[in-house]
Amino acid sequence: MANDIVLKNLTKIFKKHHSEVRAVNGVSFEIKEGELFGLLGPNGAGKTTLIKCISTLLIPDGGTAIVGGCDVLKDPLGVRKKIGVLTGGERSLYWKLSALDNLKYFAALYGVPKNKVKERIEFLLELMDLKDRANENVEKFSSGMKQKLAIARALVHDPPILLIDEPTLGLDPYFARFIRQFIKEELSKKLRKTILLTTHYMDEADELCDRVAFMNRGRIDALDTPSALKKAMPQEQILELKCLGDLYKEDFVQIKESASLNISRQDGFHYVRVSTDNPEMLLSRLVELIRDRAKILSVNVTSPTLEDVFVYLTGASLKESQDE
Ligand SMILES: Nc1ncnc2c1ncn2[C@@H]1O[C@H](COP(=O)(O)OP(=O)(O)O)[C@@H](O)[C@H]1O
Ligand SMILES: [Mg+2]
Repeated sequence: MANDIVLKNLTKIFKKHHSEVRAVNGVSFEIKEGELFGLLGPNGAGKTTLIKCISTLLIPDGGTAIVGGCDVLKDPLGVRKKIGVLTGGERSLYWKLSALDNLKYFAALYGVPKNKVKERIEFLLELMDLKDRANENVEKFSSGMKQKLAIARALVHDPPILLIDEPTLGLDPYFARFIRQFIKEELSKKLRKTILLTTHYMDEADELCDRVAFMNRGRIDALDTPSALKKAMPQEQILELKCLGDLYKEDFVQIKESASLNISRQDGFHYVRVSTDNPEMLLSRLVELIRDRAKILSVNVTSPTLEDVFVYLTGASLKESQDE
């Protein structure tokens, strides 16, 4: 099968005062035709910068990116015809125009032949279930409705390749579920689009993607199918403690499993997750270490998630910001 996206050593550097940030630092991978590929990483990993380089919004400082057979540097117009871009839905639409007028405007902008525009827009309004609201101004739409229209906009010239940046960021759970389902069932399976999506939600990547690349600090640390990535964990079980009290990763350096240890905060609780072959033994050691600092509220043993693998392979947490 042909490759729709080929990146070789792609690099983008931002200069800040006297220092520089290698937001994308020598990234190489290929995405096959029809593949649903996920770029997973915490805030600041470089995901959006990578998408912007591939979509010709930013000029890379090094390496090459071939998209739909066109080189982003030599043939940016060729690239733009092959791609639909979906980034933070709301900013890509005109709020004072109706949904219909937005689509007409973008159809003209992307050079959809005049005699095809009506048919194309009707298809998209039907596809996104927006027919009843086509004449309403976009400013009246909820963020979920705007995201639907932004998807229609990205599809207006029927591009074979879609670049989707954080598709469910800021959406309520109902719409997030709808958008995920839609990407998988309609865009990928039915319309056979080649899709590169970024996310910092590991369950989103796990649920949707054929293959996933872990990105951290501008680099790709691992790339495989979600199930193969999970098999990369040397230990088969995850011990999880729910605690009350302040805990830090440094508190656990003495235990041999500390490389895979991850602490996250949620609703005022600390969750400590560690991979292990021997949960009972590890638990007694953890209890000793934690006893004076925090109260253990519950103990759980589970299988590794993609997030556990991410922590193990990159040493970073998906939830912690990498921004300096
Ligand atoms: N326009 C910019 N100017 C300077 N630094 C930037 C710019 N855009 C992004 N960065 C920096 O590049 C790094 C990667 O950012 P970004 O690509 O937005 O990551 P992600 O999308 O994974 O959260 C961060 O350190 C960020 O601060
Ligand atoms: Mg981003």
